[in-house]
Amino acid sequence: AGTGKFFVGGNWKCNGTKDSISKLVSDLNNAKLEADVDVVVAPPFVYIDQVKGSITDRIEISAQNSWVGKGGAFTGEISVEQLKDLGCKWVILGHSERRHIIGEKDDFIGKKAAYALSEGLGVIACVGELLEEREAGKTFDVCYQQLKAFAGKFMLLTTDLKSIFFQGKPNAVPSWDNIVIAYEPVWAIGTGKVATPQQAQEVHVAVRDWLKNNVSAEVASKIRIIYGGSVNGGNCAELAKQEDIDGFLVGGASLKGPEFATIVNSAT
Ligand code: G3P
Repeated sequence: AGTGKFFVGGNWKCNGTKDSISKLVSDLNNAKLEADVDVVVAPPFVYIDQVKGSITDRIEISAQNSWVGKGGAFTGEISVEQLKDLGCKWVILGHSERRHIIGEKDDFIGKKAAYALSEGLGVIACVGELLEEREAGKTFDVCYQQLKAFAGKFMLLTTDLKSIFFQGKPNAVPSWDNIVIAYEPVWAIGTGKVATPQQAQEVHVAVRDWLKNNVSAEVASKIRIIYGGSVNGGNCAELAKQEDIDGFLVGGASLKGPEFATIVNSAT
């Protein structure tokens, strides 16, 4: 863990029922969570209200996706304004399951992220390579390309307020302080095949370098870069020791309250 506040998110993905979620929330409410960690959970949209109404204020709520602009005639979508109305503070964007299963592309993801940011939501911006890309030695290139799409749209916010997807001015002053980068190698997601601490650290350093060269030294040094991909109660402590791993985005293990608490507390 580096100098920024440790950040641990639980991405519940498309899991849970009213009953199982009520049990998970009660386990999280009873867990001892170290004070110096940002803790966020991302329930499926339909349970956000239930979770927000029953979970301790200590834990913030994230959505798993959001629409690219103001709400309206967009069947099946959920707007940033609606997420804020429910008390969400964050949204996960660019997750590999949305990139590779749903087919979302860099440009669209970048716009969504910029819009969410302009409305005051924090963005958990995900990047990561496929196994074949890693094997072809393209890990850094893939991550740089994905970062570039996020950063390009974020920068547009400060230079071109009237561009395509805004009808008016952003409601929030866009700030890199509201962005967390999640490095999630696709081959490690849901496979039980966690990246080694060295593999993760190497990419986190590369991400930081890219931000230094393309955004600013200040952003690069302050931003939290978290790791996701088969993190569990047994492997989190070793990963958390790495200097550039500032937290985790946890899938499967975040569905178990006590194990998630172990991961939250792994940096101390
Ligand atoms: O967003 C978290 C994620 O994709 C990792 O999932 O199940 O490998 O921890 P999992």
